[in-house]
Amino acid sequence: MKHILDELEQRRAGARLGGGEKRIAAQHKRGKLTARERIELLLDTGSFEEFDTFVQHRCTDFGMDKSKIPGDGVITGWGTVNGRQVFVFAKDFTVFGGSLSEAHAQKIIKVQDLALKTRAPIIGLFDAGGARIQEGVAALGGYGEVFKRNVAASGVIPQISVIMGPCAGGDVYSPAMTDFIFMVRDTSYMFVTGPDVVKTVTNETVTSEELGGAKVHTSKSSVADGAFDNDVECLLQMRRLIDFLPLNNALGSPEWPSFDDGERLDPSLDTLIPDNPNKPYDIKELITKTLDEGDFFEIQGDFAKNIVTGFGRVEGRTVGVVANQPMVLAGVLDADASRKAARFVRFCDAFEIPIITFVDVPGFLPGTAQEYGGLIKHGAKLLFAYSQATVPLVTIITRKAFGGAYDVMASKHIGGDVNYAWPTAQIAVMGAKGAVEIIFRADIDDPEKIAARTKEYEARFLSPFVAAERGYIDEVIAPNATRKRIARALAMLRTKKVEAPARKHDNLPL
Ligand code: HXC
Repeated sequence: MKHILDELEQRRAGARLGGGEKRIAAQHKRGKLTARERIELLLDTGSFEEFDTFVQHRCTDFGMDKSKIPGDGVITGWGTVNGRQVFVFAKDFTVFGGSLSEAHAQKIIKVQDLALKTRAPIIGLFDAGGARIQEGVAALGGYGEVFKRNVAASGVIPQISVIMGPCAGGDVYSPAMTDFIFMVRDTSYMFVTGPDVVKTVTNETVTSEELGGAKVHTSKSSVADGAFDNDVECLLQMRRLIDFLPLNNALGSPEWPSFDDGERLDPSLDTLIPDNPNKPYDIKELITKTLDEGDFFEIQGDFAKNIVTGFGRVEGRTVGVVANQPMVLAGVLDADASRKAARFVRFCDAFEIPIITFVDVPGFLPGTAQEYGGLIKHGAKLLFAYSQATVPLVTIITRKAFGGAYDVMASKHIGGDVNYAWPTAQIAVMGAKGAVEIIFRADIDDPEKIAARTKEYEARFLSPFVAAERGYIDEVIAPNATRKRIARALAMLRTKKVEAPARKHDNLPL
């Protein structure tokens, strides 16, 4: 018996070495951890249960029959994050560059299936060269099966992709169908085709960083939801994110013990809005002062900064926050901001996470660049997402809520459950100057008349009271009581249930 156990240990030790000490050292030299080290950091200590340690590829072409490494370039299994079950697969770059063979795909598929059957999140750690070139179509078929499962699990269990090295081909398409993508700065890249192919096809000369580094994907393409400085920070932040997320779409928003009183007032909010309506202020101050212990996990923080999205908690329960940011482009809604917020709203709605919306929006951004860029379709995405949401929606208008953007930002009319306004709110079709110049065009050359009309318009429309008179605003509230009002509204809405009529699926304006 002992020799059998010894053999098992020997085989395990061999598998743990992956592509060998030289390649592990090269991985470390590049500032990257190995797949196993990453899993250790992501999961609770000692909780990882590995599957398929000894799986090998079955390829015989190009001398591959002489090159077999147990595990075949991906470590798979399950464990816990702060006691909650998650599934994980981590590409091992030291084994055939983490490339995907048929056997490697089967390992991922096994944990994808188990994650879906047991309704637990799945996290993929990517560091890989795409399809195993020596396997040809068998590898492509493997990717197809992984993709199909990404889609089947979408909206049922959270799927998170963490890009921790070069990722090409299929290793970017699978992440693209998951809920969130995070990257590590300077060591991770995502592209469908690498710089060499780009040079051949388009004659462009670009570096990997310029083509698909973390900066590009968090600030330009919006493919990635955030980036961190190194593997360790990234994995620790993933643990923090997982704490905010439900395990599946049936369990509702997760709850942790809270030590921050829901009734807490914040007098500093009474002076947050500047006297000058054109002066910006930082909406993140309101967000952090509203959430438990100021803890806010921002999603897409470097993209379309005119809207802020992210997770926090109120009385221990996760909420999604969507907020116009007056510090950037005056908080205007443009195509990028609409698309960013729409995706976030849909994630929250799919996973029963209530949404708090803070509104200070001067409207949609005018201009040819926006119109040619499909502002109508992108704006419609956000309108569609909010209109479709059945989770509790609590909306606070702090200042401007102008035009179509008023309707879009979780207004009463499209499903807002509790809509509050600060006394500083201005709810109207547009600001005073634009409005007066249109409706009193005949007086345009008479500055005195225009000034009087402007004053009249401001007094009548630039307040929350016209909307409040109609019940579009449920109450005008003191800024200092915002957290308390939100906490009470969410508690009241806890049992909210909305039945949607049967249909195959909607036709979101893509
Ligand atoms: C087999 C691969 C591989 C692959 C890398 N390796 N990619 N083996 N299939 N796709 C192996 C290398 O042979 C090498 O083996 C080891 O991994 C490390 O690779 P290096 O090139 O030395 O590393 P590096 O210089 O860091 O470059 C990493 C890389 C590069 C950028 C990922 O290897 C690369 O460009 N690979 C090919 C990417 C690609 O085009 N993949 C196919 C995409 S198409 P040794 O033994 O020397 O350590 C695709 C189809 C799916 O994925 C599409 C679905 C929609």
